[in-house]
Amino acid sequence: MGLIPDNVIDEVLTRADIESVVGRYVLLKRSGGNLWGLCPFHSEKTASFSVNPAKNIFHCFGCGKGGNAIKFIMEIEHLSYPEAIRHLAGIYGVDIPETGYSADNIKKEEKERVKDILKEAAKFYYKAYNDENIGKPARDYAAKRGLTKQTLDNFGIGYSPINWSALYDYLNKKGYTDEELLNSGIFKKSDKTNKPYDLFRGRLMFPIFDLYGNIVAFGGRSLGDEMPKYINSPDSLVYNKQNHLYALNFARKEQSKQLIVVEGYMDAIAMHSAGFKNTVAALGTSFTDSQLKLCSRFAEEVIFFFDADNAGQKAALRAIRMMMDYLKKLTGINIRIRIAKVPDGKDPDEYIKTNGAEKFKDVVKNALYVEDYLLERAKNDNTDPESGELDRGRYQKDICTYGSWMNDEIKMSRMAGVAAPLLGATAQAVMNQMIKFQQAEDKKQEQMDSRALERQRREDIDRRNVAEEFEDADNSMPSEVVTERPAFKKVNDSATKEEVDLFAYALSLGSALAKNDRIQKTDIIRPDDFSGDTLRELVKIFLNIYDGRNETLFAKMSDYFSRLTINGMPAEDIILKAVEAADKCADVHVKSDMYLALLLKVRESIINREEERLMNLRGSSAPEDKKKIDEMLSRLSDYKLSLRNRIGEL
Ligand code: CTP
Ligand code: MN
Repeated sequence: MGLIPDNVIDEVLTRADIESVVGRYVLLKRSGGNLWGLCPFHSEKTASFSVNPAKNIFHCFGCGKGGNAIKFIMEIEHLSYPEAIRHLAGIYGVDIPETGYSADNIKKEEKERVKDILKEAAKFYYKAYNDENIGKPARDYAAKRGLTKQTLDNFGIGYSPINWSALYDYLNKKGYTDEELLNSGIFKKSDKTNKPYDLFRGRLMFPIFDLYGNIVAFGGRSLGDEMPKYINSPDSLVYNKQNHLYALNFARKEQSKQLIVVEGYMDAIAMHSAGFKNTVAALGTSFTDSQLKLCSRFAEEVIFFFDADNAGQKAALRAIRMMMDYLKKLTGINIRIRIAKVPDGKDPDEYIKTNGAEKFKDVVKNALYVEDYLLERAKNDNTDPESGELDRGRYQKDICTYGSWMNDEIKMSRMAGVAAPLLGATAQAVMNQMIKFQQAEDKKQEQMDSRALERQRREDIDRRNVAEEFEDADNSMPSEVVTERPAFKKVNDSATKEEVDLFAYALSLGSALAKNDRIQKTDIIRPDDFSGDTLRELVKIFLNIYDGRNETLFAKMSDYFSRLTINGMPAEDIILKAVEAADKCADVHVKSDMYLALLLKVRESIINREEERLMNLRGSSAPEDKKKIDEMLSRLSDYKLSLRNRIGEL
């Protein structure tokens, strides 16, 4: 075990927030900005043990022990410093680079390979950009947009040649396997040839760096009007766009107490070259709470630029609401939020180009505090542009809504004070109304929370099942993947054509299903391969009767068909027709391949649904759950990959 790099320790401390670390051992209650509980290190009856989430530390006023999360684990688990870091890294999913080899390290190696691939790709794009002929269109475009050589080099900007396999061929020659290349996210797999092909072609390439300067993804802009304007590489082993901010690796070095957040890559780049080096971009998603948390690690104030158009201004309201909610939850983190507006509906890049950096300084300086921005919004949105008249009813509603978002009374009171004269009311009355809105909202939230908690609890159980199933089935189909299995109360008789055909081929193959070198045990259909109750029930019966020898499955089963329907029609008719079609296929090998192709299709769509469900779940999960979900997702994607490979082999 070697030294643990500082950036890894940093990462451990970021992810292992003190509240959740201590929360595993001590029952904590909130009071003011801190959390309090009985000290685990000395005996006491009244709580003198405190946790400060803002500073990410604990302190006991009784025995004097205190420190960060690592210190807490050292004390409570009696571990050395590196041991405690490893302990936390394990819980919070931080990779510690290891020298030895173990099964555990395989994922890490995969990640390292992906990072190597991305680095090689960046070099390749950079070279292509500077190639006299190949890179010319990109250089012309960059010149048109006023990018200087220094800026281009600083951001590692390159060019992806107009070629479906230029990068693939290059990296393939360097010895990277197709699987590794697909893992990197910058290749797609061709349906026809099953080979990876280049995702980015003919685009100006922006490498996306993590905090430590590793390349984790790319964004690519078309050089002309081709759509889409930007293509971004997808989330991967090393990249989750919700947790990254473009250019933060540079911006953090400024050690400014202020960060500027803009919408686009080009805006961030233009700001940096105009001297606003504390600028980051949100990477094509709406701003997330983990991005805000990330900002709060480096800054006390965040200034946001949203596009002046309708969509941009809607996004602004959504983001403000999300951030204020987040800040309410985290008493202690006191990050200031300001909203800037570029005049004339331009974006920062365009504005700087026409008006220069000096003028832009004023734009930054004029950014409004969040409460002032909302006051202005409420007024502008509800004033008739022609008559200049204020719709007082709507204004009142907006003001009270926005007021209810505030995380402290001072902001709220300031809003009430400004709005009161316009409403012909006292500030106190406006404030009271805001508080009422807030209480109503809290109540709604509470109800939602308790429902969510209950749902979470149920899902936890499901997830455990899924996880266990994966554990012992390794490459086989997880049987609990379909979690919403309705009880057989209300019969859902739906089935897709593929499901019906799959079942028919199984019946038609009969005993050949088992005596077949292509079909493995895990390839035998199971009830939860099917979406409707009718087929699920029939498959159960099929599996009971089926013993690997029986030749006359269909005849044996037909008794069970009589009462059932599929998509509203008699099951017998539907299945008989499908079995007849399958029977026409005389060659048992061809028939098996048909069966497998259907099975894989059906299973792939189940997995896609499950992935979607997990992705949705992930957004609202606690960090520990996120990790579990990520593990599940990675297993699912492994399984999917193995399915795809086998579909490819057929
Ligand atoms: N974006 C994206 N996919 C698109 C369009 C936009 O991911 N199809 C993201 C990119 O990160 C982009 C940001 O949203 O930088 C802002 O998009 P937009 O305002 O449309 O583009 P600009 O930043 O103005 O880009 P440009 O100046 O190059 O036209
Ligand atoms: Mn732009």
